[in-house]
Amino acid sequence: MYDGFFRKIEYLRLSVTDRCNFFCKYCRTKEACEIENKDLSKDEIFRIISVFKKLGIKKLRFTGGEPFLRDDIFDIIEFADNIGIKNINVTTNGYLDEEKIEKIAKSSLLSINISLDTLDKQKYKVLTGVNGLGKVISTIKSLSKFKKVKINTVLLRSVNFDEIDNLISFAKENKVVIRFIELMPVGVANRIFESEFVSIEEILKKFKNFHEIESSENSVAKYYYIEDFDHIVGFINAVSGHFCDRCDKVRVSSKGVLYNCLFDKLGLDLKEYLNDEDVLVEKIQEFIKSKKFIRNPTTDLMMFKIGG
Ligand code: GTP
Ligand code: 5AD
Ligand code: SF4
Repeated sequence: MYDGFFRKIEYLRLSVTDRCNFFCKYCRTKEACEIENKDLSKDEIFRIISVFKKLGIKKLRFTGGEPFLRDDIFDIIEFADNIGIKNINVTTNGYLDEEKIEKIAKSSLLSINISLDTLDKQKYKVLTGVNGLGKVISTIKSLSKFKKVKINTVLLRSVNFDEIDNLISFAKENKVVIRFIELMPVGVANRIFESEFVSIEEILKKFKNFHEIESSENSVAKYYYIEDFDHIVGFINAVSGHFCDRCDKVRVSSKGVLYNCLFDKLGLDLKEYLNDEDVLVEKIQEFIKSKKFIRNPTTDLMMFKIGG
């Protein structure tokens, strides 16, 4: 499936819930989230995944909120696998119990991206609202034996600017990839953006020797070999970067609204057309044709609703 600029759309980010057990200071506050739960049902998700598979989606990422809060998430993963999607991934906060970790290890998930912004127990608790550092570290250690694990670290001046070295060493020790992400001034992050934003450029200045390497995946991340650590590190310049020209993705929110861009205000409500696949296909194709070439950053977007 192509958009109006002949970009091939092959990556679907599907938010399966806007519920989350964390309150990361840059993403979700108690006031910002609605209590009512209008997440898509399992059946609705099956229909959406099926139609996108028919439209040529090759890569699927389940996001949230926290995707593993859904009891039926493993049925959903299995469904996607059964209909022939081979590149299935998930982004999670990693606060998972043993039972879920075992199920993930056995699942057809190709990779798991886990958020980890600090290695300091107290800072972790203040940042996320949960005393969960030990549990998340244990998830990373366990899962990395079975699956490709990537750590997502949002750069925050008062939290982890002085922890970059430790975080890279931790990733190296555990043989996982770490990616540093620029804080985006969206939703609740607006409140802290000015004081907390750190650019990737500033982080790269900390290293003596490094060079960019080619990555096989079409990702928003750039990967660098950092000689100081003898390790490859990823950087997502979500604010200063320009990756719209090679954008290959669309998003579906937990309420079933299709968005062409993380920053779009206007979406297409897929729920209206779920009962008629022909119309659904037509509406999606038409909507994706209208995907803009360049992003138009808005600030009122809630990351836990659209899935980042
Ligand atoms: P890979 O498939 O492993 O490359 O993962 P990913 O980077 O596509 O997904 P992930 O959910 O781990 O997102 C990492 C960070 O990149 C999050 O902060 C996302 O909000 C951000 N991100 C993902 N896609 C885009 C995008 O198109 N634009 C911007 N600005 N940020 C994005
Ligand atoms: N800026 C950058 N990244 C963010 N995430 C959530 N909110 C923001 C923000 N304002 C990240 C999470 C998670 C991913 C899905 O998005 O840390 O790793
Ligand atoms: Fe939850 Fe992820 Fe948002 Fe943190 S960043 S509150 S874990 S959705």
